[in-house]
Amino acid sequence: NGAPVMTLDGPGGAGKGTLASALARELGWWLLDSGALYRLVGLVALRAGLDAQTAADCAVAVDASRGLDIVFEPDRGAGQRVRLAGEDVTDVIRTDEVSDAASKWAVQPAIRAALLERQRDFATAPGLIADGRDMGTVIFPEADLKLYITASPEERARRRFAQLSGQNVDANLDRIYREILERDARDASREVAPLKPADDAHVIDTTGESVAASLAKVRGLVREKG
Ligand code: C5P
Repeated sequence: NGAPVMTLDGPGGAGKGTLASALARELGWWLLDSGALYRLVGLVALRAGLDAQTAADCAVAVDASRGLDIVFEPDRGAGQRVRLAGEDVTDVIRTDEVSDAASKWAVQPAIRAALLERQRDFATAPGLIADGRDMGTVIFPEADLKLYITASPEERARRRFAQLSGQNVDANLDRIYREILERDARDASREVAPLKPADDAHVIDTTGESVAASLAKVRGLVREKG
C-alpha cells in the first residue's frame, strides 16, 4: 500500500521499544509494538490455562489470536497503552510470567501466521515504525529502513533490573540475566522467524550508550535515507 516502513528488530531490553516510540513521536508515524501482540496471546493463553505443547490447546490459541480485540491507544508521551476487549492490560502484559508465555507461544508457526496480516495492516500513511523480532526479515521485507538494535545480555539484564527496582518490584539481577539468556536462545533457535538481523539491516549496539546517543545515530540513518 506504499506507506513508508521502518523496522527495529533485536532482542528484548536492547532499547528498541524506547527508540521506536521516540521515532514514531518525532515523525508522527504509527507504531507497531509486535511484541505486545505476542504478549496478548500469552496472556489470553495463560488465563485460559492453555498449554503450548498440546495440539488441541494450540488450535484454541490460534483462534483466539485471530480474534484478539486489541486497541493500541495513542502514545501521549508515557508510552502506548494496550487494551484487550476494553481492559487496560498495559502493565500485566509486562510481567515476567506473561513475557515467558509470549516467547513460548511465539515459537508456534500457526500463531505467527495468525498474527501476520494484522501486523501488515499497520502500514498506513504517513508511515509505520515496526518494533519486534522479525519485522525486517518476515513481516516487512520491503521496509525502507531496517535497524537491528542490540546490547550485551549483561547490559540488558542491568536495564531490566533498574526498571523493576524503579517500580519497587523485588528483582534479582542473576535470575533476570539467566532468563534473558534463555529467552534469547529460544527466540534465536526457533525454526520460524528466528531472531536475526535482516541482510540489509543497520546494526546498532546500544551497550554503554545513552538513549540520546542511540537516538542520534538512528536519526542520522533516517536523514541519510532522506
Ligand atoms: O519485544 P517483547 O519483549 O515485548 O516480545 C515478547 C516476546 O514475543 C519475545 O520474547 C518474542 O518471543 C516474541 N516476539 C516475536 N516476534 C516479534 C515480537 C515479539 O516472536 N515480532
